[in-house]
Amino acid sequence: MNAATSSGPAISVEIDDIQSGALHHRPSPYVGKYVFLRVDDRHAGRKFLGWLLPAVDSGLPSASPNQDAWVAVALTWNGLRALGVPQASLDSFPIEFQQGMAARAEALGDVGDSAPANWEAPFGTPDVHIVISALAPDDARLEAALARAREALRASPGVEVIWQQDVKQLPTGRTTLGFKDGISYPSIEGTGIPGSNPQELPIKAGEFILGYPDETGNLPPMPQPEVLGRNGTYAAIRKLHTRVAAWRQYLRANSASPEEEALLAAKMIGRWPSGAPLVLSPEQDDPELGADYRRNNDFLYRADDDRGFKCPAGAHIRRVNPRDADIIGVTRLHRIIRRGTTYGPPLPAGVLEDDGVDRGLVGVFLGAHLDRQFEFIKTDWVNDGNFIGYSGEKDPVAGHHVETDVFTIPEQPIRRRLQNLPGFVVTRGGEYGFVPGLRALRWLADLDT
Ligand code: HEM
Repeated sequence: MNAATSSGPAISVEIDDIQSGALHHRPSPYVGKYVFLRVDDRHAGRKFLGWLLPAVDSGLPSASPNQDAWVAVALTWNGLRALGVPQASLDSFPIEFQQGMAARAEALGDVGDSAPANWEAPFGTPDVHIVISALAPDDARLEAALARAREALRASPGVEVIWQQDVKQLPTGRTTLGFKDGISYPSIEGTGIPGSNPQELPIKAGEFILGYPDETGNLPPMPQPEVLGRNGTYAAIRKLHTRVAAWRQYLRANSASPEEEALLAAKMIGRWPSGAPLVLSPEQDDPELGADYRRNNDFLYRADDDRGFKCPAGAHIRRVNPRDADIIGVTRLHRIIRRGTTYGPPLPAGVLEDDGVDRGLVGVFLGAHLDRQFEFIKTDWVNDGNFIGYSGEKDPVAGHHVETDVFTIPEQPIRRRLQNLPGFVVTRGGEYGFVPGLRALRWLADLDT
């Protein structure tokens, strides 16, 4: 169905109460840190949040991450419980959030190497309570942003750091697999913040922020009391290891020339390394187009590439956002906001052997409906092919592959079918977080249960 339909009056959104990380695009270049905390004492946990609150930015334009750093905070369901949130309120959260990502692993395709039994500690344990992320354009501003969090920790014995992950944009500006990321994002109606595709009408605020009507015209179910739920959103936080050597080896083994290798990789992603989309540049990379934010996401599929001769229907970007392509389903009900950041050093160019180093991305996927956004995209679009008529095929990049998996590239006179795709991505861990509005954070800090 169609990428460009929206109806009903525009609603203005309380951007001064929504965390900046939910609304604004990250800086580029960026350095950052993710920190997981465990709350051993509810009073300490509340005190910690109260201290941290002044450092958590709202979505107001003055809080632009390009000028400064931003700090965001999310809580798991176990975290809300550890803070002493009343049971009636805990019960009002959606079941998938209450269960947590590890409990949903099988449906999400986190099996085999990616199964919770193989996750990095403390992912998937009841110990993960608070998640802090800080992103800044450089180390100095990152340190300044983290200073308040450190003070908050010193002031609140009973809150422990249990995991940290540094992230940093690679000098190439690309992810570990070699492709530019962070190009495509929707516009949230009522925020005034533009999206990256001029052909996609803004998406109703309720798809991303609780307390506003969504694309169905309804108010999404909101955790109670209202002060806690309003202006919040949910985050699926994932640490994804990329098997870069396996990726390069597979491309080499299935190509007769370096040019073919580059084309094959682009067909799997849907964009060239520079970010230029295949729909607008089907034959070769176009770095000028890739770098031009006014043009690099200005496309739909139906008119220009209905049959996928340019960008295969099964390519990563076309699966996870089919735009107006003819699919089973309605794209606008499954949009998502992404905050992808890279960790680990790059595998040097040309190296085909695995060096054993951990590298990949910490992906944060935001939306008001974990079930029909993140979970739906993973189960129905990434790890299944029925919606595009490719039963049994999965996302060539982000899919969980078994040895017999295939990837279809429409070509004339006859399509090409890649065989025996190995897994290129391994899930190292994942958590579901609730990202409260600022008033809600104050409410949590002031709890007196
Ligand atoms: C390690 C695994 C992954 C890698 C390397 C990866 C890489 C990329 C790249 C290079 C792009 C193109 C840049 C852009 O359009 O902004 C992209 C787009 C995107 N990815 Fe991923 N991705 C991964 C996993 C995922 C997962 C698990 C999801 C969803 C559950 C996802 C959702 C998206 C979405 C929604 C887009 C934008 C598509 C569009 O609007 O055209 N990605 N990804």
